[in-house]
Amino acid sequence: MPSTIDEIRTDLETRLTAARNAQDVRNAQIEYLGKKGTVTALLKQISGVAEDQRRQFGEQVNALKQWAAQAIEQRLSNLSSTARRYDIDFSLPGQLMPAGKKHILTQVEEEVESVFLSMGFDIEEGPEIEQEYYNFEALNIPADHPARDMQNTFYLAPGMLLRTHTSPIQVRTMKRENPPIRMIATGRCYRRDAVDASHTPVFTQVEGLVIDKSITFADLKGVLQEFVRGVFGSSTNVKLLPSFFPFVEPGAETAISCPICGGKGCPTCKNSGWIEMGGSGMVHQNVLREVGYDTSIYQGFAFGWGIERIAMIKYGIRDIRMFYDNDLDFLGQF
Ligand code: FA5
Repeated sequence: MPSTIDEIRTDLETRLTAARNAQDVRNAQIEYLGKKGTVTALLKQISGVAEDQRRQFGEQVNALKQWAAQAIEQRLSNLSSTARRYDIDFSLPGQLMPAGKKHILTQVEEEVESVFLSMGFDIEEGPEIEQEYYNFEALNIPADHPARDMQNTFYLAPGMLLRTHTSPIQVRTMKRENPPIRMIATGRCYRRDAVDASHTPVFTQVEGLVIDKSITFADLKGVLQEFVRGVFGSSTNVKLLPSFFPFVEPGAETAISCPICGGKGCPTCKNSGWIEMGGSGMVHQNVLREVGYDTSIYQGFAFGWGIERIAMIKYGIRDIRMFYDNDLDFLGQF
């Protein structure tokens, strides 16, 4: 019997030392001191022990019971003071903190910026709440000019609006700085366009502007070529198609060879092998005069493309609305 008592004491000691929280201790308490507990069973045996050993056995079992009750209380109080000190239940599984990441459009914007930075371009900024003057007049789009209807916007206070494109940043940069200029600017634009798979009222553009003494249309094509190869891959080509924007002359719609089918024809490029990406052209002399540049010395080119469009082609996204739905399953893929 004594060896049983010693064993029980040792077992309970080990159990209490290993207990990681109050619940572990409570479980041990039930197993040793509960109705069907090990110590309780010994207590019940006392009356059946031979008379000459009963007293000694009874004393030992009662001592064990007292010791066990005390040891359990002691362990409970140790654990609760540790938990209070750290205010932590060490036995709980850790909480996963989901890591945030940059939105796909921000990633593409930064990629575009890094390609142009590698070509020696500066990065400029302009306000989203813009003056009509910078958004239209200075860009050779006078009031009542029909070209304003192509970019209908949200007007604010008289003379103020949400910019419809990043082109006003061209004007702001030229008014602030003297040539040579080599800059890009990215940012949000706003238009009263109906929402469909390729249009949203809020979207992002990248604007580019180069002004110097001997800039030609070939420089425009060369820079765009370098840009699309940096973003879409080294076999991508650029094609310039005649087009009209009041602030460039000549103006061009820019298309790239379809990076998805390599120019062979597929549903994305509507089997033409080419995808239109945005506008470009040589800066109109009226714009250069407006910012005070001598047009007999300086000329340059500009372009403006949609960042969403670049991202859609690069990642095969068919609907522009997915960028703005905030579906984490979609955004988490990039
Ligand atoms: C312009 O905004 C001119 N400022 C571009 C430019 C700059 C031409 C410099 C010449 C020189 P456009 O309206 O075509 O052009 O818009 C350019 C691109 O912006 C489009 O090709 C498209 O990718 C994107 N875009 C325009 N409207 C929306 C819209 N509502 N939703 C999503 N993307 C749009």
